Amino acid sequence: MPLADFAVVILAAGKGTRLRSSLAKVLHRAGGRTLVEYVVQASQRLKPRAVIAVVGYQAAQVSALVSPLGVRTAIQQPQRGTGHAVLVARRALPTAAKFAIVVPGDAPLVRTETLAALAQAHRQSGAAATILSAELANPSGYGRILRGEDGSVAAIVEDSALTAEQRAITEINSSIYAFTLAKLWPCLVRLRPSNVHREIYLTDAVAMLRQQGELVVAQLAADPDEVLGCNTRADLSSVDSVFRRRKRAALMDSGVTIHMPETVLVDPDVTVGADTILGPGVQLLGRTRVGVSCDIQTGSILTDSTLDDGVTVKPYSFINASQLASGAQIGPFAHLRFAVRMMKGARVGNFVEVKKSVLGEGVKAMHLSYLGDANIGSETNVGAGTITCNYDGVAKHPTTIGRRVFIGSDTALVAPVRVGDAAYIGAGSVITENVPAGALGLARGRQVNKPGWANARRRAMAASARLAEHGRKAKRAPRPKKATVRTHARAAKRRPPNSARKTHRKSRR
Ligand code: UD1
Ligand code: CA
Repeated sequence: MPLADFAVVILAAGKGTRLRSSLAKVLHRAGGRTLVEYVVQASQRLKPRAVIAVVGYQAAQVSALVSPLGVRTAIQQPQRGTGHAVLVARRALPTAAKFAIVVPGDAPLVRTETLAALAQAHRQSGAAATILSAELANPSGYGRILRGEDGSVAAIVEDSALTAEQRAITEINSSIYAFTLAKLWPCLVRLRPSNVHREIYLTDAVAMLRQQGELVVAQLAADPDEVLGCNTRADLSSVDSVFRRRKRAALMDSGVTIHMPETVLVDPDVTVGADTILGPGVQLLGRTRVGVSCDIQTGSILTDSTLDDGVTVKPYSFINASQLASGAQIGPFAHLRFAVRMMKGARVGNFVEVKKSVLGEGVKAMHLSYLGDANIGSETNVGAGTITCNYDGVAKHPTTIGRRVFIGSDTALVAPVRVGDAAYIGAGSVITENVPAGALGLARGRQVNKPGWANARRRAMAASARLAEHGRKAKRAPRPKKATVRTHARAAKRRPPNSARKTHRKSRR
């Protein structure tokens, strides 16, 4: 329902002193987005004549975020309070706007439906101002609504100015209002800073409107969560919890199983298909898309990645900016660092790191590997401990491996290098040259066996141990010191007997 005679003014100029942060309050995040983005989204869905954001502290950063969303900005410099902020917006308001909805940039949970109902009520009652209020179990920190005997609003009293009696009031000001502009402006220009903070409070406009005989009404929000503001880190975390809970509830409604849901974090833009299971501690972040019937197990973190249907991610795996086709499997403890494409049924096992690589259909790299800048053909088996040596200290180089290749365990592939289709690489090879299709590539020292060497060595060691023991006993009995020293020295120099040394020479080629 378009509201052509309404404008929305978002108050987003404050620093947010109580957060104790160098970052402007509205740029802090909850539920995966900045606070101001939520408020902009809820406002724009109303389809008002215009959405204006009052910016001030870190104005450039806040503008850079909201301008591309189609929001006009008005600069408030310095920030002299919420009343002053609305005055600053006046210049930016279109003349067609008879009414304004004011929303603080730090109340990200407010929904469009609630703003629409507020606008509707305001238009119908003919009040000069309609305040969205809420009953809070713990109202401390918020301005309280003082109602007159007829139920209309007499004033808003800020938390810092409450009398002991007023402190018991649980109806709070959400800082979300609808105003009739022709009645608001004359009051706003007359407001003076009358509080300890030397600020011009928008809340003071309420009492002033009343003095002029205008009607001010308060409408209770159905869901008190919606009006939560983020003044402190604790507030941010409460609001974050609400967003996370909403997202999980939506996923569960759409057929996703979530184990220990309170531990699972899903960003707002993430999509998950039905019959997918999310284990405890899973995080799905950014633009991640998960298909149907996937199994994302305990502690795995997926960022900006796409998983087709039936993908299994075993515990504690990390997937970033990668694509996994249906039936792919990774983990436990796997790391797809970025730009990895795993084709159908490809598998990556424990302690395998992959970066900027393509793993063809059915490829297996199950244990302890690093694969970087590699293109691996379908059905190839990458043995345990295989490393692509993609970096020469200056530049990165590609490794290209064909289809149905068998890479023996502990192979180092020194890039740039190619291994042809169906080739074999012997375990422990350091491959520095291309291996043709169908060939065996072997690049390691040959094995040497020395018969009898081990037994001879053991005998020699035992003999020298006996000598040393003999020397120690001798030392305990009074004997000349010099002799003991010599015995030790001789024992230490002993080698395997001649027979063993001869065998050693014989077996050498
Ligand atoms: C305000 C209300 C309080 C209400 C509460 C609800 C006033 C005086 N008090 O208090 O009654 O219960 O919200 O959350 O309005 N801002 C500007 N320019 C300024 C000052 C503030 O743009 O000069 C912006 C802030 O960035 C913020 C919003 O206005 O987004 C509200 O300001 P904040 O300081 O958070 O007000 P509260 O103390 O929470
Ligand atoms: Ca606030």
